[in-house]
Amino acid sequence: MINAPKGTKDMLPADSYKWQAVERAARRAAELYNVKQIRTPVFENAELFLHSIGDSTDIVNKEMYVFEDKGGRKMALRPEGTAGVMRAFIENNLGESLPLKVFYIESLYRYEQPQAGRYREHFQFGSEFFGSERPEFDVELICLAREFLREIGFDDLTLRINSIGCKSCRGEFNKALRGFLSKNTDKLCSDCRRRAEQNPLRALDCKVPACRELYKSAPRISDYLCSDCRDHFDAVLKGLDANGIKYVYDDKLVRGLDYYTRTVFEFTDGGLAVMGGGRYDGLCEILGGKPMPCVGFGSGIERLIHAAEERGISFKKPQPSIFVAAQCDAVRDKCAKIVSVLRAAGVSAETDLMGKSLKAQFKYADRQGYLYVLTVGESEVQSGVYGLKRLDDGNVFTVNDSLLAEEVGNIICKK
Ligand code: HAM
Repeated sequence: MINAPKGTKDMLPADSYKWQAVERAARRAAELYNVKQIRTPVFENAELFLHSIGDSTDIVNKEMYVFEDKGGRKMALRPEGTAGVMRAFIENNLGESLPLKVFYIESLYRYEQPQAGRYREHFQFGSEFFGSERPEFDVELICLAREFLREIGFDDLTLRINSIGCKSCRGEFNKALRGFLSKNTDKLCSDCRRRAEQNPLRALDCKVPACRELYKSAPRISDYLCSDCRDHFDAVLKGLDANGIKYVYDDKLVRGLDYYTRTVFEFTDGGLAVMGGGRYDGLCEILGGKPMPCVGFGSGIERLIHAAEERGISFKKPQPSIFVAAQCDAVRDKCAKIVSVLRAAGVSAETDLMGKSLKAQFKYADRQGYLYVLTVGESEVQSGVYGLKRLDDGNVFTVNDSLLAEEVGNIICKK
């Protein structure tokens, strides 16, 4: 037997309602904030990710699925959503009318060591806002994130937030951090030794406990922010206060992608990020577009579902309405007609397609979560009157064949 690739998970029919609930929450929040959907290819030129995510990040260094296509082009499965959306923004001149607010629900691919909450294929609900450097922009995006999380039922996830400054103030900070790292080379893990050379800020994102302990005494980015970045960050925090969004200021939060500037944030649940994002004011220019201030987030759907279940948040299971049960083979055609009348009236309905006994049809209807079973036998066909049984309390209603859709509709609505 051929198994699913390591680090991937099938979404099975019995669980699909959870995914649909999360996607509904995403679409609902997006609609409230006038955020339009965008869809980009699952693979892009590998170069796009090298330039945007950064060639010293773990994602680019260790985790990208890179392949050569039949035309000899170097392609990559997208490891994250922002780069492809930015490519589409530039290529399609989407900057003509600003601000532009988009969202996506898509699969992403990272060759990680699979463990709890870490997959090689995962799905994100993400959103990217283009066009304003004002702090209100950051606040609006974080409000959208909160709206989405609330819609699912989370109201107490921790928002950790920091500012990592702009190009100019980060230069000074990098110098200080590099000095600190070189003084402590013998205490660094091998990845951090490499990061100290290539991109010292990345070291602060290290998950190795000894490094984390050491970095408690590392220089703080907050001491190096220029006055514009400081004012911007203060205004973002004020905006969060004004919107009743609680946060923890975490000056060690740097995130694992190179394109961020100024605000970075994560919503976490027990140490695992269920959402991460921030500003990336320089990315558009790096990829050949005009200067374009942007802010965005990505939220891992598998992690969200897991965190929700751990907290006892339940997802609404859709309940189909009417199962039309055939008492004998002679009435199966009639059952099929009834089903099509009900469906035409917008009522979800189904009849047996397996030749099951009446008892087995009731069992199936119950397992599928049907609200009612309409039983059709030869005598019902002759009289034109059916019994409609409500499965949760056993009540039986009578409905007439001539007014089927109307009477069924009334009974369902009253429930
Ligand atoms: P990220 O922090 O790499 O950011 O991923 C965002 C979220 O995706 C994480 O907080 C986590 O919930 C989920 N996630 C990431 N990797 C995995 C994995 N291997 N398995 C399961 N879940 C995972 C980004 O991807 C940025 N593009 C976010 C962004 C958008 N920033 C600005 N705009």
